[in-house]
Amino acid sequence: EWAERGAAMIVKDVTDKETGKVTKHVMKKGINDFKFGETLGDGSYSTVLLATSIESGKKYAVKILNKEYLIKQKKVKYVNIEKNTLQRLKNTKGIISLFFTFQDETSLYFLLEYAPNGDLLSLMRKHGSVNEVCTKYYAAQIIDALDFMHSKGVIHRDLKPENILLDTDMKAKLTDFGTARLLESTSPGDIKYDLLTRSNSFVGTAEYVSPELLNDSYVDFRCDIWAFGCIVFQMIAGKPPFKANNEYLTFQKVMKVQFAFTAGFPVRIRDLVKNILIKDPDRRILIPQIKAHQFFADVNFNDGSVWENDPPELG
Ligand code: ADE
Repeated sequence: EWAERGAAMIVKDVTDKETGKVTKHVMKKGINDFKFGETLGDGSYSTVLLATSIESGKKYAVKILNKEYLIKQKKVKYVNIEKNTLQRLKNTKGIISLFFTFQDETSLYFLLEYAPNGDLLSLMRKHGSVNEVCTKYYAAQIIDALDFMHSKGVIHRDLKPENILLDTDMKAKLTDFGTARLLESTSPGDIKYDLLTRSNSFVGTAEYVSPELLNDSYVDFRCDIWAFGCIVFQMIAGKPPFKANNEYLTFQKVMKVQFAFTAGFPVRIRDLVKNILIKDPDRRILIPQIKAHQFFADVNFNDGSVWENDPPELG
């Protein structure tokens, strides 16, 4: 059932050698249509490899998941969530594209858009931190992508610099939707409380997790906004706002909202971050206010320029 619906159909003209008659054949794209290359990344239950289409030479990133392992680890549900989410977010700016899915006896395959310029974490590591202009450039793309995503009823729940890839044009592309939540309501103004049960009470990464998840075990759209605030802080400071030697101590800092701006942290970004990293989600600023914040005063979110402008000098 999993592969059938998502399998790509390719219609090919096949010429009969004896009669010369041309007939249309429906072929399914499969593993044999790609040449697999270097490893691009390793997840907890998946591996991402570079894949090249033999027919077109086009490059993809193929995420490979071992079926037996998924079943044993009870992760099948998350793979389906990832697939359904990526399908719902098709043609959304700032979200990695899913082109095909298929399977063989051992594995499931996601043929994803290949983002050849690494991720935001490696960009920050390379430069130590990024300057204000560059922070604004990526922050604008990330918040716009979150806006699209939330308006389509998707909460990411594990937003972090590693999950923000840089595409061919150095534009941001969110990825890794295995922990996403799909909501029926797609109205962004209507905040839906997404109650979690004990069995799945923790999703996310310690440094970017919101206090409400730790205190009350619920998350809604605003957990992605919290993570966005942490990422903006990190771009400037070179390290996330809540960081300790272990997860437990990190959680304690998050719950107390205990963080300090580094010396020289630009005033306008301080104000933005201060208005996001607020414990009570009801007092935290939302996406429309973030877009209207003075930090984005010279950014036009309505004319597509956020996605068209060339990236500024990094560093
Ligand atoms: N690593 C994980 N996913 C990737 C992708 N889509 N492109 C490049 N590297 C990746």
